[in-house]
Amino acid sequence: MDHGEATTTTEPAGTSPTLGPPLVELKDVNKHFGDLHVLQDIDLTVRKGEVLVVIGPSGSGKSTLCRAINRLETIDSGEIRIDGQPLPEEGKALAKLRADVGMVFQAFNLFAHKTILENVTLGPIKVRRERTSAAKERALALLDRVGVKNQAGKMPAQLSGGQQQRVAIARALAMQPKVMLFDEPTSALDPEMINEVLDVMVALAKEGMTMIVVTHEMGFARKAANRVVFMSDGQIVEEATPEEFFTAPRSDRAKDFLSKILSH
Ligand SMILES: Nc1ncnc2c1ncn2[C@@H]1O[C@H](COP(=O)(O)OP(=O)(O)O)[C@@H](O)[C@H]1O
Ligand SMILES: [Mg+2]
Repeated sequence: MDHGEATTTTEPAGTSPTLGPPLVELKDVNKHFGDLHVLQDIDLTVRKGEVLVVIGPSGSGKSTLCRAINRLETIDSGEIRIDGQPLPEEGKALAKLRADVGMVFQAFNLFAHKTILENVTLGPIKVRRERTSAAKERALALLDRVGVKNQAGKMPAQLSGGQQQRVAIARALAMQPKVMLFDEPTSALDPEMINEVLDVMVALAKEGMTMIVVTHEMGFARKAANRVVFMSDGQIVEEATPEEFFTAPRSDRAKDFLSKILSH
């Protein structure tokens, strides 16, 4: 699916002068679920300001990779660092890490019994210890930025899927994260709502947010990504610029995968 125009401004992977120091670093990361080797020797560095798109067939380990970075999953061996710090095991340090790593999932996971505004202020008040008035003010500004300020008093179920997903982005941003992880944020949406979410993500990328985005949206990748990583069977098989990857994939597995997603 391609929901946008390709741009020609993409720079070669990793060479953009605007990118900062390493922010997310994975070194030789391995993870098993029983006999399944779901992450195999993963080496990956995402620099400050970089937008990385992760693409690959279902079951290749993309969600596990995201969850490992947020320590929602433990790893068996290797090392993951956020802003130079190894992932904490537990406790306050782990809560702090989770606040530094914003996460938006496929399914809208807003708190169903809280208003839109409460969904966005809860984390800042409880975890960041912000004053309620300050948290509300910032939440409203964020809801405005994602285009749903007028929905602030409603309950999640009263919003469309696209609106809920934009609230989920605002909620993650309210924690002032260093990096945002998106795991197929548009794949549960009706087609007419996909662009309204992708537009918010493109704007975020343009503002310099560091982002790891699992998506098959080529339009987004071409507009916003510095780099594409292709995963298959728990391995990073290929790394390229979006332009290189979508026009001339090198590996047979990537060619096969692209022929499948391009054919419908
Ligand atoms: N909690 C779990 N227990 C056992 N197997 C799992 C678990 N989570 C994921 N898997 C398996 O790990 C593989 C990778 O899953 P996942 O990371 O969700 O892939 P993707 O996001 O690329 O579709 C799949 O085969 C999946 O069934
Ligand atoms: Mg997944």
